[in-house]
Amino acid sequence: MFEPVLTRNIHRPNSEKIYTYLANGGYEAVRLALTKSPDELIEMVKRSGLRGRGGAGFPAGVKWGFMPKDPDIPKIVAVNTDEGEPGTFKDREIVERDPHQVIEGVIIASYAVGAKRAYVYIRGEFFLGVKRWIKAIADAYEHGFLGKNILGSGFDLDMSVHRGAGAYICGEETAMLESLEGKAGNPRLKPPYPAQVGLFGYPTLVHNIETLACIPHIILRGPEWFASIGTAESKGPKIFSVSGHVNRPGNYELPLGTTIGEIIYEHAGGIRGGKKLKAVIPGGASTPILTAEHVDVPMAFETLAAVGSQLGTGAMIVMDETTCMVEVARRLTKFFAHESCGRCVPCRLGSRRLYEILERIEGGKGKPADLDLALELSRQIDGLTFCPMGSALVNPARSTIERFRDEYEDHLTYKRCMVGNPL
Ligand SMILES: Cc1cc2nc3c(=O)[nH]c(=O)nc-3n(C[C@H](O)[C@H](O)[C@H](O)COP(=O)(O)O)c2cc1C
Repeated sequence: MFEPVLTRNIHRPNSEKIYTYLANGGYEAVRLALTKSPDELIEMVKRSGLRGRGGAGFPAGVKWGFMPKDPDIPKIVAVNTDEGEPGTFKDREIVERDPHQVIEGVIIASYAVGAKRAYVYIRGEFFLGVKRWIKAIADAYEHGFLGKNILGSGFDLDMSVHRGAGAYICGEETAMLESLEGKAGNPRLKPPYPAQVGLFGYPTLVHNIETLACIPHIILRGPEWFASIGTAESKGPKIFSVSGHVNRPGNYELPLGTTIGEIIYEHAGGIRGGKKLKAVIPGGASTPILTAEHVDVPMAFETLAAVGSQLGTGAMIVMDETTCMVEVARRLTKFFAHESCGRCVPCRLGSRRLYEILERIEGGKGKPADLDLALELSRQIDGLTFCPMGSALVNPARSTIERFRDEYEDHLTYKRCMVGNPL
């Protein structure tokens, strides 16, 4: 039986307070980590198999290893709490209910890579999250976990919180760094990667907060424990945000590799009103849609890639038989068109044209060539932009056309919607 790890504290009264965290073994991982060498910690994170929880799934220990070793080069840790991916609401819960778990992860990561400064970037709309971050950091300073000579180890770390203004693109790591520097949140061209040239030009380790929340547990329970959970290429516990047409939407912490069906039917209470499952977006709005036939697919990086989708943030948007797939694609594409930073032409204009095609199909005004046009346009956006947003934004249209083509054809040929939406 799997015991929640990352969310083990969140249902306790006053779970966000430092005294609750300390009463439940909090900051013990920092004490232990400070007795180890930075290289030992990097090795532990590599052995754990932890992969980033912010969407891309890059191995965390490998990224730590990319940070330069020269002690004379100032280094930074940047904490990504932007959480703009539609369908994702796990980071908000972590920061509102257990921020100290993340601070502990930040201290350990900073010590391991030799960073003396950590910046938190948080989405502007997370008002409670901002308050909780600020209070938690202040309490961590007061207890000697942040500031000079942490727990008498000689290691110093300062940490502060910065609010974004609610732009999706600012969750992309280089756009986040630009925004932290006070500029417009436009992504930077990579390479150089942030571990080489990051915030204010210094090497910067960027992590999602769920990734950082895993760190104290890896240190205390050991990398082998972490690697024993999950699948061959996807290790550890994961918080799945489940939304849409389920009876019990919410965050569910389960081992990576739990099947889509188990999450929907055993944890999220099944489909509302006893209706039939029609589709699932498994990893947030930017990941390709799956059908009811995929219920046995494990929620893991490699298994979702094998069926043409992605784990992304692990945010499952569940849709029942009453959902029009053309509408889904049109709404999500509208979001991406609105959120494009506008720098790259394929993303700025391509997203708008794609939205217009979907809008006319949904409204019964589509032309027979529109499906091919939408697919061709998607090809001309995918991979041709500075940041991965171009590849992300084509997924709703392309994957719904591929998997639900008959619904599009009904709109085009018979001017009707299969689920009965008025055109
Ligand atoms: C358009 C776009 C938006 C993103 N938004 C977020 C976000 O809100 N939060 C996040 O942690 N990562 C986000 N990412 C991923 C980050 O660029 C980066 O991979 C991540 O913060 C690295 O942390 P990790 O290794 O712990 O996953 C986004 C990426 C893209 C392309």
